[in-house]
Amino acid sequence: MFSFLKLSKGIVVATLLVSATVNGQTPLLTNVGARPGISLNGKWQYIVDPYETGFYDYRWKERSQNDREAYWNSDVPTNKTDRKEHGYSDKYTINVPGDWNSQDAKFLYYEGTVWYKKSFDYARSLSGGRTFLYFGAVNYRADVYLNGRKLGSHKGGFTPFNFEVADTLLKATGNFLVVKVDNKRSADEIPTLNTDWWNFGGITRDVRLVEAPQQYIREYAIQLKRRSVDELQGWVKLNSTATGNITIEVPELKLKKQFPATGDSISFSFRAPGLKLWSPESPKRYRVVVSSQEEKLEDQLGFRTVEVVGNKILLNGRAVFLRGICLHEEIPSETRRAYSKADAVKLLLQAKALNANMVRLAHYPHNENMTRTADSLGILVWSEIPVYWTINFNSEEVLSKAKVQLNEMITRDRNRASIIIWSVGNETPVHPARTTFMSNLAMTAKSLDSSRLISAALEVHNVNGASVVDDPLGQYTDIVSVNEYIGWYGGLPSSARTAKWEVKYNKPFFISETGAETLGGFHSDSLTRWSEEYQEWYYREQVAMMKRMPENFVGLSPWILNDFRSPRRNNPVYQEGWNNKGLFDQKGNKKKAFFVLKEYYDEMEQQHKAR
Ligand code: GCU
Repeated sequence: MFSFLKLSKGIVVATLLVSATVNGQTPLLTNVGARPGISLNGKWQYIVDPYETGFYDYRWKERSQNDREAYWNSDVPTNKTDRKEHGYSDKYTINVPGDWNSQDAKFLYYEGTVWYKKSFDYARSLSGGRTFLYFGAVNYRADVYLNGRKLGSHKGGFTPFNFEVADTLLKATGNFLVVKVDNKRSADEIPTLNTDWWNFGGITRDVRLVEAPQQYIREYAIQLKRRSVDELQGWVKLNSTATGNITIEVPELKLKKQFPATGDSISFSFRAPGLKLWSPESPKRYRVVVSSQEEKLEDQLGFRTVEVVGNKILLNGRAVFLRGICLHEEIPSETRRAYSKADAVKLLLQAKALNANMVRLAHYPHNENMTRTADSLGILVWSEIPVYWTINFNSEEVLSKAKVQLNEMITRDRNRASIIIWSVGNETPVHPARTTFMSNLAMTAKSLDSSRLISAALEVHNVNGASVVDDPLGQYTDIVSVNEYIGWYGGLPSSARTAKWEVKYNKPFFISETGAETLGGFHSDSLTRWSEEYQEWYYREQVAMMKRMPENFVGLSPWILNDFRSPRRNNPVYQEGWNNKGLFDQKGNKKKAFFVLKEYYDEMEQQHKAR
């Protein structure tokens, strides 16, 4: 459920009132990397359990907490007569973070349960503090047990979650942490059964034990006030009623502002003379320190504003043209989920090579390294929850699952200057239940964060040869974005020459996908499907069409930076389980179309500079 916290100066903070008992989770900790604690990354032991024997008995009844055959309980025989039919062993280990599919051939297509187990010793560094178990992401469902006690569960494969761990449960040595990970797809989940990406399962991002004082800073927002060049505003939320002052420091600007804590939160605004704004051309960030009586958190923050004025997107008050590219969270040359800072730098430098100033992180929230690296490299971000294709729009329960993921995405990344767009979905079919569902999400996103633009990849349809954009969801989004594949999923690339666009909204118009597939290194004449020359021709025709778009056209993010895995793509010569619409091929080589798009982006950059 949601409450709307009316703070002074009209800053409305919608918070998801996740009581501590929601699946055992505690409200999400933010800026976890700045907090004390220990990493639980590394080798974990595992048991593959497709029949979920560790969770259900032979009558398919959920095992009780102390059931000795449950896989969350000790696997050590009590004596030589004891019968144990499960056990964790160094014979079976897997790396965390990381998907399981890429770590062992037997896991390539595996969809089901894998039990992960980590033993660790623990000496608290903050005396008298609290301890949380934090997961960057687990795809798809996680059930978490420590020393035989269930901490709770989480659903959603691309957003963080945490559980507070009672002192009485943690031991100095030999803690027995078990996570049941289940990546089975299901009709009533987010995403649903059908996606055009690989269902990478596992503990795919970092795991940490995080420490905080009894009264800790749960989350904060520090942003540049709209239409201002040097006024910062925001709020700080604690876990309980605060005593003393909350301090915001920006040392480089010689700023140290103190605010008396009232209740469990404060809101603030103050001038920051000499503030340099963040932009793709100049991604200036400041070390900012947020302190309470008991805690000091450092962050690296950029300050900028983004807004729609008329049918343009203004960044820091200037119209911006988005030279974008879509990407999945994958390292194709290693056929695995990306998760590290090095992965983020690699992917975003590929986008930079294209002279892109924006990335659409498809179709789910990427790891925090990606958004923090986008901050540092100066790349604008479209961040999206995986409400993808044929979700069950008639279910209130599915809507609440989507809202949980939306809230986790926004809570984690609220302070990332690079993120200018929150997207609530992709290519959902137009019908009344869907538009009710999606407009509810769009309004929820806006209530959670009124400082960014709300979008979704809407539907476009053909009326008497014209591409008409009148999707009713467009009433609820700040920009109107559509995916089009004129010349790939219909006609030849030359059919883009006669394409007529009719956008029924006087809002910024954005092409959120366009692309053609080619097997890197396959060369022929441009009429030969799957050749690099076909894709090159496609991009030439697309660029020509982009130059003829209506005047509210604000940019594009072609599909896609890299070739990526998909079980839906089964041409035995040109796909073999890959969707090869990348501008880079599976080994990271640039295809011919790369240079067509780069030439267009170079031209658009020059035009923008000349304005
Ligand atoms: C769709 C979809 C992508 C998909 C792409 C394609 O628009 O949004 O997820 O991979 O088209 O068909 O390659």
